Amino acid sequence: MASNDSVSMLSDFLHMNSSDQEFSYANNSSVQEYVITKVQSILKETIKEIANLDGFPACFNIADLGCSSGPNILSVISNIIDEIREVCKQKKRKAPQLQICLNDLFGNDFNSIFKSLPMFYAKYNIAKEDNGGRCFISAVPGSFYGRLFITTSMHFFYSSSSLHWLSQVPKGLENNELNIYMAKTSSPTVFELYRKQFQKDFTMFLESRSSEIINGGHMVLTLAGRRTVDPCSNDISILLSLLANSLVDMAAEGLVRESEIHSFNLPMYTPYIDEVTDIIHRQGSFSLDVVESFDVYFDQRDAPMKVSDEPSHGKKVASIIRAGFELTNFGTSAMDMLFSKFAKYVDKYMSPAKTKHFSIVISLTKI
Ligand SMILES: C[S@@+](CC[C@H](N)C(=O)[O-])C[C@H]1O[C@@H](n2cnc3c(N)ncnc32)[C@H](O)[C@@H]1O
Repeated sequence: MASNDSVSMLSDFLHMNSSDQEFSYANNSSVQEYVITKVQSILKETIKEIANLDGFPACFNIADLGCSSGPNILSVISNIIDEIREVCKQKKRKAPQLQICLNDLFGNDFNSIFKSLPMFYAKYNIAKEDNGGRCFISAVPGSFYGRLFITTSMHFFYSSSSLHWLSQVPKGLENNELNIYMAKTSSPTVFELYRKQFQKDFTMFLESRSSEIINGGHMVLTLAGRRTVDPCSNDISILLSLLANSLVDMAAEGLVRESEIHSFNLPMYTPYIDEVTDIIHRQGSFSLDVVESFDVYFDQRDAPMKVSDEPSHGKKVASIIRAGFELTNFGTSAMDMLFSKFAKYVDKYMSPAKTKHFSIVISLTKI
């Protein structure tokens, strides 16, 4: 079992930019917000199913895993609370008290979430004599690739746009040329190491949650994936190749060392749907109730509206990618230059119709 003491490597590397920064995750999380709205109907169905089967216990324990610190988090929680209250109202039952645990890595900006709680509580916890529907929010920092909660204490896990992050850069990836992720010029060994790391991490995730959730408990999870088996045909791989090109240009200008690019790879993996479902079946603790997938455009809502090379498209994509991962390995001062070059590459080679990623959503029940 991975321990939550051993995740400093990922925490050091991966942090969403905190809310007081220009490229903050809070200001650049529209892509993830879109995913949340697309998943709402599955969330509603799952909550209805819980109400129809066993009903809610007096205290219903929920966790949002990989919550980050932007506005999305409270909108997710609001969705869950509203739905539980609505279902209980329809069934003329008292709503349960809700214990809501927010999880992310130790370095997450939990304080910015706490600051918005008074307003949230003012809206949701209007005094009720019987405490029905009252919610209590707390933070549980640590890696979800290990135990976070007491055995069989949880009823519902939710995670959005987080599980494609690996627990670490796969070991043995030293020879990935000037790539920073799986790319067309990566060797088959690179693909295999990434695939195995995801398999190990996602299995560990399922094992940990399986110990923590009650039998019949549910999980709704979304993660970035890929539409085809080919690991470097996916949209994220293409975008990250452009980011790698920007680093190579900076090396040519003497702004970063080529050796730094050689030793740098991203700890993420965008799985093919079958890989996800195979791991769930093999791990064996959960039944798979729903599997869906959809495209998420970086620059437009539902569909590509116009195909053009507007300069702002590249900048917008660069801000979204930068908010997700500052590549601090290369020094913070190099970031402005890196993402300005990246924005130009995106403008040159991509368009709003092409710049997208593929999202996988699954709903599971503990058996
Ligand atoms: C793209 S953000 C998604 C945030 C939020 N769920 C949303 O939909 O807007 C991914 C989050 O996953 C978190 N994360 C990545 N690996 C994690 C791990 N092993 N354990 C807990 N959180 C993790 C990151 O720190 C980050 O905040």
